[in-house]
Amino acid sequence: MAEIPLAQPDISEQEIAGVAEVLRSTRLSQGPRLVEFEAALAKRCSCSGAVAVSSGTAALDLCLQALDIGPGDEIITPSFTFVATVNAIVRRGATPVFIDICRDTMNMDWADLARCVSDRTRAVIVVHLYGRPVAMDPILEFCRANDLKLIEDACEALGAITDGSPVGSLGDCGVFGFYPNKLITTGEGGAIVSRDPELLALCRALRNQGRNAKGFLADRLGHNYRLAEPACALGVGQLARLDEFLERRTEAAIRYNRLLAKLPGVSLSPPDCSHGRIAWFVYVLTLDGPQSWRDQVIAEMARKGIELGDYFPAVHLLDFYGQRYPTLPGTLPVTEDIAGRTVALPFFTAITAKQQVTVCDELARVLTSRR
Ligand SMILES: Cc1ncc(COP(=O)(O)O)c(C=O)c1O
Repeated sequence: MAEIPLAQPDISEQEIAGVAEVLRSTRLSQGPRLVEFEAALAKRCSCSGAVAVSSGTAALDLCLQALDIGPGDEIITPSFTFVATVNAIVRRGATPVFIDICRDTMNMDWADLARCVSDRTRAVIVVHLYGRPVAMDPILEFCRANDLKLIEDACEALGAITDGSPVGSLGDCGVFGFYPNKLITTGEGGAIVSRDPELLALCRALRNQGRNAKGFLADRLGHNYRLAEPACALGVGQLARLDEFLERRTEAAIRYNRLLAKLPGVSLSPPDCSHGRIAWFVYVLTLDGPQSWRDQVIAEMARKGIELGDYFPAVHLLDFYGQRYPTLPGTLPVTEDIAGRTVALPFFTAITAKQQVTVCDELARVLTSRR
């Protein structure tokens, strides 16, 4: 195991006790911790409700199904995202249409929306990548004007604010993920939030084989995407500490920015965001040089016991997508320039200043060895 890992959850003794309490009870699924976790999430996201599920992927699946996305529909989303966003579109039998990103924020470039839209477009999935909130106004306006559904993939951004609103609260629905590297964790887990009670009720039924208070939904295929009580208990404890996590992660991001400011051969992301608050999920920089150099840097740092990540490969260049959904050459210039050169540094709530100094010193050594 790496001496300085890429990511690490932060679980308190109180949270462990909360999980143990559930395990000692007889209620391990669909109990009071689920209700409590969903209520706390909804409140945190300024939404009328939340539906906790077994992963961020399950949350994406459910909301696309609830919005009736299916074969023949086109969905606009960035190629520069975790592949789960796009896989969910394809599982519905719909077609992903890839939009380019902005060079500084690495978030979706709304100015590219007009190129991507057609008479088959049904929805846009915005991704608040790396916890950096997308400026939503132009996208909301575009979706309204073109009668499109808007889904916020906020799996990486719980707690981020955009133009005064929590991410996830502005589209038809928002989704979150609670994998152990995320801003809060339930082990595996995810959630849908929305201000639309009908959409929430549909997602809640689909989560549980299509069952609701009246029986089975006759016209929909349900799933078991439930989140067990011990996971919900952990989620309740983690969510109560989200502000503390966000503060410590912001401090760690500022420290990396300071330590790396004069390092040649790298570009850093903007340390702040004019329209809101970043929920620092990961700390990603871009290296000068080809992908082979980035991969070499990752390998050399691994030999020193420091784990780096290669977030994210461009989805449209993965074999599966390249073969089935070919993108015209030159349509995603920023994505193709940046993907393959990004590196995620070790980043987690409890990272120490000393660990960050070690990461930066060793990175500087590796980078200068090339010149
Ligand atoms: C942007 C994005 N979307 C979706 C997901 C899927 O979440 P999960 O891994 O919980 O299924 C992730 C998780 O890493 C993600 O980063």
